[in-house]
Amino acid sequence: MKIGVFTDVHGNLEALNACLERFEKEGVEKFIFCGDIIGYGPDPEACVQKILDLPLLAIVQGNHDAALNEPQLEAFFNYDASMALEKSRKLLSARSSSLLATLPPIVQMPSFCVVHGTPADPIKEYFTSTKQFLKYQSLWEGIVCFVGHTHLPFSMKGTARNCTVALCTKDDVTITFTKQSRYVINPGAVGKPRDKNPQAAFGIWDTQAHTFRFLRQSYDVRITQEKMRRYKFPSFLIESLAIGY
Ligand SMILES: [Fe+2]
Repeated sequence: MKIGVFTDVHGNLEALNACLERFEKEGVEKFIFCGDIIGYGPDPEACVQKILDLPLLAIVQGNHDAALNEPQLEAFFNYDASMALEKSRKLLSARSSSLLATLPPIVQMPSFCVVHGTPADPIKEYFTSTKQFLKYQSLWEGIVCFVGHTHLPFSMKGTARNCTVALCTKDDVTITFTKQSRYVINPGAVGKPRDKNPQAAFGIWDTQAHTFRFLRQSYDVRITQEKMRRYKFPSFLIESLAIGY
């Protein structure tokens, strides 16, 4: 089965549509979402509705989704992120807002785990180092742990004692899972990439071929930026979309 794995849509409907179209073209049947449907972008309501409507195998809460209803998490946000969260609160229906509050922080399945941050701190901590892989590997089950939050596409491959990491910022990079290793994979951000590539980032787990493909898809960033200008989003958030930061 081909499973579309994606994260950090951040209210960017044009990027989400481009990602979902590519998933369809590639024959994806089910989905795994690693958190942050809202925040930063101008279309939180449409993104919540679209994502929750998909045949999801697993979905978790991101820090922006959680901060909607838990204001103490906003203490970790910079000024622009707080401004965007305030706008998301206004743009979201009461129903979508309460649906986001019910999402779990972590999903553990026999063959995989899904979390926005790390298995030790699912909402806030960034998964960035091989040290964390070695420290946290007993906290999750299966061959692969899918994460989000850093907005950087990468794969970590490790055993009980060793681990290596590779950034995967190009379109169509495939890694093959081996039986001896376990993996942490961040598919990159759909709606707010931070690897200097403005294209939406996501990936496909092929459970038969035992592969994960990192993919990129361009979309018309100007449409999203125009909406953000109309809603008076912070200018840095608008400009940074075009440069992938
Ligand atoms: Fe995020």
